[in-house]
Amino acid sequence: MKAFAKWITSPRNMGSATATFRRDLRTEKSIEKAEITASAMGIYALYVNGGRVGKGVLTPGWTSYRHRVQYQTYDVTALLTGNDRIELGLGQGWAVGCLGWKNTNHYYADAASVIACLTLTYADGSVERVATDTDWEVYTSQVLFSEIYHGETVDRTAPIEYIGKAVLSDVETELIPQVGEWITEQERLAPIEVIRTPKGETVVDFGQNMTGYVELRIQAPRGSRVVFHHAEVLDRDGNFYNDNYRSARNEMTYVCSGGEDVFKPTYSFQGFRYIRFAEYPFDEVDMNGLRAVAVHSDMKRTGYFRCGNEKINQLYHNIIWGQKSNYLDIPTDCPQRDERLGWTGDTQVFCRTGAINYDVEKFFRKWLGDVALEQTPEGAVKGIVPTCLSVGDTYISAAWGDVACVVPWQIYLAYGNRELLAENFPMMQKWVDYLHSTGPAEYLWLGGVHYGDWLAMDGNSERCHGATSNDLIASAFFAYSTELLVKAGEVLGKDMTAYRALYANVRSAFRAYFMENGMPKESLPLTEPVSEGATPGDRFRRGMTQTALTLILHFGLCDENERAALAAKLVGMIRENGMRMTTGFVGTPYLLHALSENGYPDVAYALLMQEKTPSWLYSVTHGATTMWEHWNSLKEDGSFWSTSMNSFNHYAYGAVFDWIFGVACGITPVESAPAYREVRIEPHPDRCLGFIDTSIDTRNGLIHLHWYYKGDAVYYEIEVPQGVTAHLRLPSGYTEALQGGVYHFAESSCEDQK
Ligand code: BGC
Repeated sequence: MKAFAKWITSPRNMGSATATFRRDLRTEKSIEKAEITASAMGIYALYVNGGRVGKGVLTPGWTSYRHRVQYQTYDVTALLTGNDRIELGLGQGWAVGCLGWKNTNHYYADAASVIACLTLTYADGSVERVATDTDWEVYTSQVLFSEIYHGETVDRTAPIEYIGKAVLSDVETELIPQVGEWITEQERLAPIEVIRTPKGETVVDFGQNMTGYVELRIQAPRGSRVVFHHAEVLDRDGNFYNDNYRSARNEMTYVCSGGEDVFKPTYSFQGFRYIRFAEYPFDEVDMNGLRAVAVHSDMKRTGYFRCGNEKINQLYHNIIWGQKSNYLDIPTDCPQRDERLGWTGDTQVFCRTGAINYDVEKFFRKWLGDVALEQTPEGAVKGIVPTCLSVGDTYISAAWGDVACVVPWQIYLAYGNRELLAENFPMMQKWVDYLHSTGPAEYLWLGGVHYGDWLAMDGNSERCHGATSNDLIASAFFAYSTELLVKAGEVLGKDMTAYRALYANVRSAFRAYFMENGMPKESLPLTEPVSEGATPGDRFRRGMTQTALTLILHFGLCDENERAALAAKLVGMIRENGMRMTTGFVGTPYLLHALSENGYPDVAYALLMQEKTPSWLYSVTHGATTMWEHWNSLKEDGSFWSTSMNSFNHYAYGAVFDWIFGVACGITPVESAPAYREVRIEPHPDRCLGFIDTSIDTRNGLIHLHWYYKGDAVYYEIEVPQGVTAHLRLPSGYTEALQGGVYHFAESSCEDQK
């Protein structure tokens, strides 16, 4: 496109207002094909003859704009008449608007720019191009204000004024065709209730926390205003509460034309379940005129799960909605406050679950491309991709930067795409080389500033870091990433001798430094700088924590003969804590695996079924419809954990589904035959779930598993697609290699076998 079209911008500084770029064209010739490609530094919306074109919203999506920006292609043949108007609406979006908790704007560009090219192929075979240049005219639009965080103002009474001819803009970034999924509108939810709160405010409940926007249909006198804000929860008194959005104003202002109006934002989105009207032209809210429109990347749903326990079913529902809400072009931490950023740790933690629920290969191919582009020459990967904060605002942290190895490997296992693995291999290797070269010790990752076991419950309750030594976490992840790199290299037929040796050295250095007598050391030296306001105490330096034991067991940092004692110690600590975990972002995803892999599936189940905080079901029993950021985002007394960092739509802890699917259901892809071409089916039934009915639509066909209790027996129904081998192992120890077909088994229940 760049060969024909020029990046153009408005001659007037638009601030937060949006402009429309217009080009009228006339042709006598008969058009055989008409195609428009378009992109923006900002967010654009394409209109032909007044009608919005394409299924995508929030185009061109978010990439590392300094390196690349996607363009989209639209077939507009059927829309052209020979006397046509092409328009591009342009808002600030991620490229120009406010980003991050410091509300930094202009991170990627000072002003929004757009680029487009219409290619007309005529019946006579000739081709004509109409592309953006300084002949395009710029007009004001009725979108008077737009910011992703702060919302949108649309005034249907505002006159459209001619601003002038477009001016050239010096955007220097690579234009690439769309590689990710389109961002599209998905479900449309009707409100379930209009609430008059104790404060006397009018609040509408859509019944589901989600990401997207409200579509409002209204006919009201010309000039009447509708103003509303969004919230995820009500407070303990039943009042509208959104202090947790921090500086994100999330305000929608609509001014009615007097006719039938349909309003929704074009350049903004919000995370919400409720809206509160600050202004509304009538006494009664018309529920029929309101729909909450879910917006996310258009991924194909692949995983389904249902069981006999309604709370676990609700948990799964919350996990799905957590994913929908946060897989909006990039994997984000949350969709509502002044972040909505590509936090790498959250992504790494959840990606295995994400790849069960949905086909996320394209989604991650795009984002991983940005991770690679933003990797420093030394190989470091920062906390947020696409980067959008000033240096120093995110750390090069263990479990965050390790996204560079974890995600490519998980995506390879899920979809078996060697090319994608090969594409990401250099990034994986550079990350491991970086770990090898950083810090004072060759085979350990000591020092540095990390997020640690983020939000774990064993740290200082006022702060976000858990008690586990950052050095221990970092060095455990050094080993883990190296192991994944070796596996990836072997798949790609590379000589991995040096990295196998590195892995062995890291593992033994880990054992020598962090462990004694087969156990993690109680307390470890504090190497990281102590930040302002922190008390050195025992923060970040404990070796004997649930998270440390979990990592040692699950990452195989112990010898086989040490497992029993380590697992018993972990179970002991969980029991001492009232059958509850203390783990945060780092330990939680692996905790249940560490238990069930080492003979304690019953303890894993007990944690899964726990309802007191910290637990997965605590939020469920407190009305959650998505995953919460903190185990106790809403405390038992009805107050909130904090106003400063308290999202009710943070998917990280939803990673528990990879245990439910991989262990309770027992379905995992075999590493040597990825994409479930060979699959392990090793269910761990438990009466607390009653039954499970699950399926996954893999690249090799649909795998379906149903187990249920009847009397003293557990019955299994397993469907294996043609061409797939399923290595079955039932709790009794019975094994069989199943080929395509439907199979039935029955066994006395596990409890009876004990
Ligand atoms: C985000 C997290 C993220 C973290 C870094 C938070 O503000 O919401 O989920 O991983 O910062 O520790």
